Amino acid sequence: MDHQRSRALYDRALSVFPGGVNSPVRAVRPYPVFVDRGDGAHVVDVDGNRFLDYVMGYGPLLLGHSLPEEVQEAIAAQVAEGAMYGAPARPGLELAEFIVEHVDSVEKLRFVNSGTEATTTAVRLARGYTGRDKLVLIDSGYHGALDPALADDGAPGSPGITVGATADTITIPFNDPDAAERVFDRHGESIAAVMVEPLLGNKGCLDPVPGYLQTLRSLTETYNALLVFDEVMTGFRIGGLGCAQSVFDVKPDLTTFAKVIGGGFPVGAVGGSARIMDQLTPTGSVFHASTYAAHPVGMVAGLEMLRYANENDVYERLTTLGDQLRGAIADVLADTRPEYTVVGRDSMFKVVFTDAESAAPAAGCQAGCRHDPQCARYGTCPRDGRDIDAANGERWERLFWQSMKEHGVLLTANQDESQFLSAAHTKADIEKTIEAYKHAL
Ligand SMILES: Cc1ncc(COP(=O)(O)O)c(C=O)c1O
Repeated sequence: MDHQRSRALYDRALSVFPGGVNSPVRAVRPYPVFVDRGDGAHVVDVDGNRFLDYVMGYGPLLLGHSLPEEVQEAIAAQVAEGAMYGAPARPGLELAEFIVEHVDSVEKLRFVNSGTEATTTAVRLARGYTGRDKLVLIDSGYHGALDPALADDGAPGSPGITVGATADTITIPFNDPDAAERVFDRHGESIAAVMVEPLLGNKGCLDPVPGYLQTLRSLTETYNALLVFDEVMTGFRIGGLGCAQSVFDVKPDLTTFAKVIGGGFPVGAVGGSARIMDQLTPTGSVFHASTYAAHPVGMVAGLEMLRYANENDVYERLTTLGDQLRGAIADVLADTRPEYTVVGRDSMFKVVFTDAESAAPAAGCQAGCRHDPQCARYGTCPRDGRDIDAANGERWERLFWQSMKEHGVLLTANQDESQFLSAAHTKADIEKTIEAYKHAL
């Protein structure tokens, strides 16, 4: 595969962007491919290489790179009528009504422009509503580039973040109900919120162990703290229109959204009960404002994409395709790398290069680890971020990922982040992907 043009563009990019990129995850080694265009389930790079794409913009592209004609037409019509107004408009109202109709826990919401802005607003709102300061997070979760969430054991996780900004952040391991109980025993009266990805999409794509989210729900209720589900990645991907909270049957107080609800445009939202949401300005006193919030083009794109998904059985098809893909990968692993684990559900998936020492080999896993106590591997499969850190990430990144790319399959470029199917992927694409896995593993 020739990458000369990507290489030359990256060389230029190094002169104008720190590290040659605008977000560090794109600084793939030895250098990223520069995308020329998207085409359904594929991207074509500037050298003319065509890849089956499972990055899908890191999640937003539920329908793939080519939007259905009616969605494209609605976006074009909105652009023709004015890209934005700085005043209320119908598209934002209709997207909000769609979300409120389908997500049980959301009565009111506020649109913002990214996942980070959604989680930032949720944290401020939780603190303002409860009058408390402490924020409990999962130590390997990701909630965006907001200061209080970039904390290592309560200390700033980056230069430029003040000690004060993270002093009230407490982190606990995912899937460890005892750790959550200990934190509430100690700090319960000063905890404003627990914020958690209901499925740990940014660190190995790990399911919650049965009962874990329920424990967080009951602890937050007991101590009058808020439970915030960060569904920036899982929202309208896991559990269809009901989102991940409908699958795991836990109702959070606040939910953050982004990615899919913008249909590929920069959109975010925070939603919850009217009682809590009304604490935001102008009804309440918890400040939030934004020039671009409810940007009409993003609102139209998100709304039309979700309506299309709803009316065309997209979620059912994606779940079937996801199960086929994960099931076929599990079969390949059973033959080649029985210590590895296939994870994910619905349209998200990953293979964790589980450490051979600690993982019991499997005769054949389910199509995505569910932490099933009946499973022969129960207790040895990855459950939290420490297990992902112990996996063979170097092999994943430097050998496996590169080999998949050379076989024409683009995955997210590290062991941590989930990969995404889109409605544009076909059964034939899955078969091609499985062949690539067989070679690359
Ligand atoms: C769960 C979660 N929360 C928050 C964010 C931050 O979103 P953004 O990159 O749009 O700021 C991400 C981004 O990947 C995410 O996956």
